[in-house]
Amino acid sequence: MKGSDYELLNEAQREAVFAPIDRPVLVVAGAGSGKTKVLTLRVAFLVKQLGIPENRILAVTFTNKAAKEMKERLENLINTKNLNVGTFHSFALRIITENLGRFTIYDEEDSKSLLKEICEGTDYKNEVKAIKNAISRYKNTGEVPDWIPKGVFFSILEEYQRRLERSGALDFDDILVKANEILNYEKIRKKYSQKLFYILVDEYQDTNPLQHNILVKIAGDPDHRRVFVVGDEDQAIYSFRGADYRIFLNFRRDFPNPILIKLEKNYRSTQKILDLANNLIRHNVDRRDKVLYSERKEGPDPIYKTFFEDREEAEWIAYEIKLNFKPDDVMILYRANYMSRVLEQALISRGIPYKVVGDVGFFQRKEVKDLLAFLRFSLNRRDILSLKRALGILEGIGKRTVEKVIDVLIKGGDWRILNLGKEQRVALEGFFSLIEEISDLKPKHALRRVVEFLNYYQILEKYDPEKYHERKGNVEELFRMAEEYEDTNEFLYQVSLLSSSDEEGSGVSLMTVHSAKGLEREVVFVVGLEEGIFPHSKALEEGKIEEERRLCYVAITRAKTYLYLTSVKNRGNYVDLKPSRFLREMGIIKSENKEGFKKGDRVRHERYGIGVVVDVGLDTIKIMFRNEVKTFVKNKVRIEKL
Ligand SMILES: Nc1ncnc2c1ncn2[C@@H]1O[C@H](COP(=O)(O)OP(=O)(O)OP(=O)(O)O)[C@@H](O)[C@H]1O
Ligand SMILES: [Mg+2]
Repeated sequence: MKGSDYELLNEAQREAVFAPIDRPVLVVAGAGSGKTKVLTLRVAFLVKQLGIPENRILAVTFTNKAAKEMKERLENLINTKNLNVGTFHSFALRIITENLGRFTIYDEEDSKSLLKEICEGTDYKNEVKAIKNAISRYKNTGEVPDWIPKGVFFSILEEYQRRLERSGALDFDDILVKANEILNYEKIRKKYSQKLFYILVDEYQDTNPLQHNILVKIAGDPDHRRVFVVGDEDQAIYSFRGADYRIFLNFRRDFPNPILIKLEKNYRSTQKILDLANNLIRHNVDRRDKVLYSERKEGPDPIYKTFFEDREEAEWIAYEIKLNFKPDDVMILYRANYMSRVLEQALISRGIPYKVVGDVGFFQRKEVKDLLAFLRFSLNRRDILSLKRALGILEGIGKRTVEKVIDVLIKGGDWRILNLGKEQRVALEGFFSLIEEISDLKPKHALRRVVEFLNYYQILEKYDPEKYHERKGNVEELFRMAEEYEDTNEFLYQVSLLSSSDEEGSGVSLMTVHSAKGLEREVVFVVGLEEGIFPHSKALEEGKIEEERRLCYVAITRAKTYLYLTSVKNRGNYVDLKPSRFLREMGIIKSENKEGFKKGDRVRHERYGIGVVVDVGLDTIKIMFRNEVKTFVKNKVRIEKL
């Protein structure tokens, strides 16, 4: 470890890194203030100075990308081979495997298709996605949705769990649920809490109650307060997945007598960028007051541009990048996935390399899922979903036959009793002996065998000639990844946990703001700053403006030196858009003139909703909301005319 790593630290950072190990430590700090840095140096300190073995340290965070960032930084400091570092999910999965053995992990798509089957023929067949989210929320927080009768919800849930169980499968949320259950066994809990000498959590603001429970169980012994968590409540952006940043504020309740450390100096961004961030986040009511200041007083002014439509916006961005920056230094952030397409086109047309870090990534692609289905089924013969998918690819076997086979297998029977044609028999014989064969092979060889058996490249060419090369490329990419694993089970676990965010490659990074947490770049473009887009209309309807604002705060604090903000008037189906209120709140565009309000005007207040002006004084303005009249200071009130 380099001494210089420590010498650079400021007083508060040093206090965190070298804090005593027998009290909980809570580091609350704004973006770019060195939270992840402090956490990683703390790990190095534990290992190098205190001699704590790597395998007795657990460092976890919330998203794959943040975990990767943490891991990379640790690799520069210590040997991470035996260190337990990753996401909450990967840790929970390990508890499950160690105690209950193998499960197949159903990803989002798998869960969705299972639910689709269940909801087919009911009134909720078009609500599969909403039901999936509701189930996820229920598992993470215990909240029951209010838009669907309780009885219906629970019967769908029950059937869903029954089918998962029948298939020996867990969905993403079950990973946490199961691990949490396992830890209810005192003996098991003790085993982990004793083995894990020290536990560190990055991005703590986004942990949900379930994750928090797990943490309390493994680190909650009165004689084991060796936890170190860092986070920023201003960056809590995962409430839709059940994260509850108040947990963070309540840390003291579960871990009494903590050492509380605040970092206020930002090392990432210039003061000009931070000024915007501070201006913006000040508008959130539900927060502790903190202001970031930077070491870097000088820097270029952030730039705001507005355009007629999104194509123009994209063209300009591509041009600006081409002219001024190295693609690797640039990140383009948007609120929703679909917004990448226009940007991609513009980048392509200027020959600028880029990568999209999206939700539907590599592992969701059809050819990848097809091949993995064979491997999954070979390891878990109860995995109906994979079986169905795999059989569906075989030539000469129709949907009906697939259903018959599955029916028999579910009942514990042998498919050979079925009355089938010769061609189908041959195909099925081949299939099941292939499954036997590959169950003992290394992942790479197993995959090769499947591709050979299916004549898969030919199938790809035949059914989708246009995309043939792209898909073949994906298959080859899968081989490359499989090569890194000796054991198929391990390989499949990794696959199910990885999101596309781990895709390699260089160039401009395009991603949603949600994916950008914990990352940084010299140059950041935040596009689509329009009312209804960012803040998103759905969030506005649901009264989640504060979370949107935190999201915007996350976006701009990714920038080190150059920050660009853009908005357009027309974006696809959306026409006549207005610039985002966030631009006004940052002070980039001027506030409306409050003088203009008069009695009888209908207005929208950002907290109280719609109201009517009942009186305008010299400095004050009175507004009636529903049945209540409130008085505001005129030049401070945040209202807009309707
Ligand atoms: N004392 C320091 N001296 C110099 N550079 C520092 C110091 N502390 C942190 N940095 C640098 O500042 C940048 C931001 O640090 P880091 O990513 O750890 O912040 P963070 O608080 O985790 O941010 P986020 O909230 O976005 O996750 C990094 O490039 C880091 O190396
Ligand atoms: Mg960080």
